[in-house]
Amino acid sequence: MISAKTIRITTIVENSTSVAGVLAEWGISVFIEAGEKSLLLDTGASDVMVRNADKLSIDLKKTEAIILSHGHFDHTGGLPAVLERIGRSDIRIVAHPEVLGRKYSYNKKKSIYRYAGIPSCKDRLESLGGRFEFSTAPVWLSEDIAASGEEPLTTEFEAVADNLCLKEGEQFVQDPMSDDQSLYIRTDLGLIIILGCAHRGMINIIRHAKELMDTDRVYMVIGGTHLGPASQGQVDKTIQALREMDVAWLGVSHCTGLPVAAKLAREFEGRFFFNSAGTVIRFPYTDSTVKRPGS
Ligand SMILES: [Fe+2]
Ligand SMILES: [Fe+2]
Repeated sequence: MISAKTIRITTIVENSTSVAGVLAEWGISVFIEAGEKSLLLDTGASDVMVRNADKLSIDLKKTEAIILSHGHFDHTGGLPAVLERIGRSDIRIVAHPEVLGRKYSYNKKKSIYRYAGIPSCKDRLESLGGRFEFSTAPVWLSEDIAASGEEPLTTEFEAVADNLCLKEGEQFVQDPMSDDQSLYIRTDLGLIIILGCAHRGMINIIRHAKELMDTDRVYMVIGGTHLGPASQGQVDKTIQALREMDVAWLGVSHCTGLPVAAKLAREFEGRFFFNSAGTVIRFPYTDSTVKRPGS
């Protein structure tokens, strides 16, 4: 089992920033260093992630594998810039096959569909050195680190947002977001779960992580929760489930949105933090161990 002391997690891109000179962008990208291993979960929406990585002294060339949490542009748009920076011809990209799906979001007020999928085609990404490794099942990146693969829907109160669509021919159909996946790390302190957008529901994901990694202790959950657009009922039931699961630290980001993040901050006072761009997490975590450049 990995000693959590050997792990450092840096959020390179997020909707807000906590470090001067590090840019905010709608999206997320998280760099995980675990012992000698370096992994990247998502790439934000643009080349901002490379610029932020430089500012945060992250050497992206060390990246062994890029894990894509799903195909939306705000998680995949930075791929060309990252691949160019890594500069190898065999860069592993772990993703669900549906990551390349023709994804749209539907704006109910304006009655319009907007393309929300991966901005680059597979050929271009491959020409930049990307080597896709498609899997619907979990992919083990080491003995204690796994990309989740498809997350089963097991709670009765979590559902994939109904404005997310796939274009099939000329028809729009509901996107089940089967490509949604998260990163699980089993440590001596308990599980660390890193979410992209949690489109399949964060409690579904935590349940899956516990089962796959064969442990009940959840030390930390960070990343996008997609609770921003969720119903009040789902938010309340999620809070109740998080309490029952006794999650030690909750560091929300991205699609959580300010009102829900503020509610979680109140509910989980003392074990909540906002995981914005520039946040560097070391373990065991305390608020005072959040180290930022220049601090
Ligand atoms: Fe998304
Ligand atoms: Fe997102």
